[in-house]
Amino acid sequence: MRVLVTGAGGYIGSVLVPMLIKKGYSVLAIDRFFFGRDKLPPQNGHLEVVEEDIRFFEKEFLKDIDAVIDLAALSNDPAGELDPVKTWSINYLGRFRVATLSKLMGVKRYILPSSCSVYGFQDDVVDESSSTNPLTTYARANLKAEKDILNLADDSFTVVILRQATVYGLSPRMRFDLAINGMVRGFFKNGKIPILRDGSQWRPFVHVRDTSSAMIKALEAPAKVVNTEIFNVGSEEQNYQIFDLAKRVAEAIGIPFEYEWYGLPDHRSYRVNFAKIKEKLGFEPQYNAEKGAVEIWEALQSGKADPDDPKTITVEWYKSLLKEGTMI
Ligand SMILES: NC(=O)c1ccc[n+]([C@@H]2O[C@H](COP(=O)([O-])OP(=O)(O)OC[C@H]3O[C@@H](n4cnc5c(N)ncnc54)[C@H](O)[C@@H]3O)[C@@H](O)[C@H]2O)c1
Repeated sequence: MRVLVTGAGGYIGSVLVPMLIKKGYSVLAIDRFFFGRDKLPPQNGHLEVVEEDIRFFEKEFLKDIDAVIDLAALSNDPAGELDPVKTWSINYLGRFRVATLSKLMGVKRYILPSSCSVYGFQDDVVDESSSTNPLTTYARANLKAEKDILNLADDSFTVVILRQATVYGLSPRMRFDLAINGMVRGFFKNGKIPILRDGSQWRPFVHVRDTSSAMIKALEAPAKVVNTEIFNVGSEEQNYQIFDLAKRVAEAIGIPFEYEWYGLPDHRSYRVNFAKIKEKLGFEPQYNAEKGAVEIWEALQSGKADPDDPKTITVEWYKSLLKEGTMI
């Protein structure tokens, strides 16, 4: 089975692609490689790597593709606000284009890795049937992509939406702008855990290998189980309030709980129910925040992860690419 992964050189893609290859899939990896081409394994009989843009690539790339996992996007709220028109053109129009061309070219299944950020601010615990409340360009583009791509589904074109919790853990394309990863790096560099104000906000979390496993489950489940379905990806136990999460991180690593506040009060707060993915896809995360934090701490200590790599803070890196004019 041949799978196209867009955004394959990104934080999730560079973990997912080797997992797919290990499971025997043949992978076509498409990416603009804004974070470099060196995050994927070398090309071989199971992996073809192509530098292309999801807004412009030729539809012939979709010939003989059985399934698409469409990860390419400007991948968080602050990056999404740098140039909202560009964000809309990639995250909504670009992914809608990939889905439309996939259907046209006879691809059987399309998976959209969306985000729990579509829930925005919520007082109650939300599930897939709850009303959404997207607060940023990034979240609105995800929601619009979900809605329009779901409309393309039919008996021969399966569409699955995965609303991922905030991801953490080690990846070849490391992101230190994600809460748990950033907390560990902050303490490593400055002896203080950075906490986004005011700390009472709720957020669900999932490890990068676990969310990749969820994508593989969505790829392999019978069409009748997943077609037109939305799944939240994460687990009930990993809904945390940010201040409590920071305490857990400190305790897990065995460092003093020294912290510093940053940012304006975060208006996003959501607790998410993950019963559906557990029940329908048998998805159970293998990692938790503590395990993820220790893994990152060890990588920083051993030099495997570079706390000063400018590419690891997505919004800052995109700012520099926009300034250089290398990001159309
Ligand atoms: N990491 C998280 O916590 C998280 C949570 C929820 C949802 N998501 C979503 O999962 C997806 C992957 O996230 P990630 O953390 O791996 O992000 P990432 O920024 O590391 O990876 C995105 C990849 O897409 C590529 N890309 C961007 N625009 C492109 C274009 N026009 N054409 C081709 N490639 C392009 C980039 O070069 C990058 O390699 C994104 O859609 C993101 O919004 C991520």
